[in-house]
Amino acid sequence: MSTSPRTLHRLLYRSRQTPETAADLDFAVRQIIGTAIRCNREAGLTGLLLTAQGHFIQALEGNIDAVRGAYARISMDPRHHDLQIFSQGPAERRLFGEWNMCASSLAPSDKSILAVLDGKGDFNPKALTATSALRLLTTVADIQRRTALSALVG
Ligand SMILES: Cc1cc2nc3c(=O)[nH]c(=O)nc-3n(C[C@H](O)[C@H](O)[C@H](O)COP(=O)(O)O)c2cc1C
Repeated sequence: MSTSPRTLHRLLYRSRQTPETAADLDFAVRQIIGTAIRCNREAGLTGLLLTAQGHFIQALEGNIDAVRGAYARISMDPRHHDLQIFSQGPAERRLFGEWNMCASSLAPSDKSILAVLDGKGDFNPKALTATSALRLLTTVADIQRRTALSALVG
C-alpha cells in the first residue's frame, strides 16, 4: 500500500503512568486532553485515550507525518514511560473520527470489557496484543457513542 502523506495511518501504543501522574490522574488527564485536542485538531488527528490500571492505551490516526510527529512528542512526555507500540501502519478508515482526542477510564473488573477481550479474571493491560488492544479501543468508542446518543435523546 502507498505511504503517501495522504494515506491514513493509525498507531496504537500503551505506556505506564508515572507515580506522580497516577497520584492525580484526573488532573493529568484533563491537562493532556486539553493539549491533545488543540494540537490534534490543527494536525487533523483523531483518537482515543484510555486509562487502565496505571497504564495509558492510546490510538492516534491521521496522516503519517502528523501521527509520527505527535507520537514523537508523546514519547518524550515525562508523565509516562515504558511506551510500547502495539501496531502502526496504513488504515482504511478512521475508527475514532468523532474525537480529536477523548479520554475514558476502565475499571479492572469491567464486565463488558472483559467479555470483549475473552479475559479471565481482571483486565490486565500488559496482556494486550495488537488485535485485542484495537478491539478494546473500538469497544470503548462504541460505548462512548451510545452514551452520547442516550444523553441526547434522554
Ligand atoms: C498519555 C499521553 C497522551 C497524549 N496525547 C497527545 C495527543 O494525542 N496529541 C498531542 O498533541 N499531545 C498529546 N500528549 C501531550 C504531548 O506529550 C505534549 O505534551 C504536547 O503535544 C505538547 O508538546 P510540546 O510541549 O512539545 O509543544 C499526550 C501526553 C500523554 C502523557
